[in-house]
Amino acid sequence: MKRLTAGILGSLVSFSVLADEITYREHIQPLWQSSCAACHGANAPYLGAFDENEDKYVKQNLGPRMDTYADLLMFVAWPDTGALMRRLDDGQNTPDGKPGNMYQYLGSNETQRQQNLDLFKAWVGEEAWTLKRKKDITKEELMAIKAEY
Ligand code: HEC
Repeated sequence: MKRLTAGILGSLVSFSVLADEITYREHIQPLWQSSCAACHGANAPYLGAFDENEDKYVKQNLGPRMDTYADLLMFVAWPDTGALMRRLDDGQNTPDGKPGNMYQYLGSNETQRQQNLDLFKAWVGEEAWTLKRKKDITKEELMAIKAEY
């Protein structure tokens, strides 16, 4: 019994350590590099410029630029609150049950996509994984975002 308790506690502790250790530098940047950089890198326009000329950029297969920590945060927290979550969600939280349209880029098979989604979720914070927009999000939900550098 003692050993069992230690085992359970041990796995809880290691899980929370793992969740706390997900950082942009160590985990998200490399994943972003392999999965997202092709269309959101230095050749892509910043969000403001993208919005002004969206059709033109989409035709070139370019989304808004998000190649630094600060730029990526704009799609997590502010001003494009929840955009990253809406686009990457696998359908568990979307109104129509369909995955967001960037989910497909998380990997070449479902296992890989799920693993990488878990990494993004752990980075943003399981509690903070909401698809809400700026007008609907609460201050508490915003404060729950971890997104460690
Ligand atoms: C093949 C090109 C391509 C890849 C790879 C790609 N994206 Fe995109 N992404 C786009 C384009 C084009 C748009 C703009 C059109 C749209 O909104 O769907 C976009 C839009 C987005 C948006 C919405 C931005 C906004 O204006 O609100 C987010 C967030 C996003 N992508 C995140 C990602 C992430 C994270 C990855 C990597 C897992 C990724 N994308 C991979 C092409 C791509």
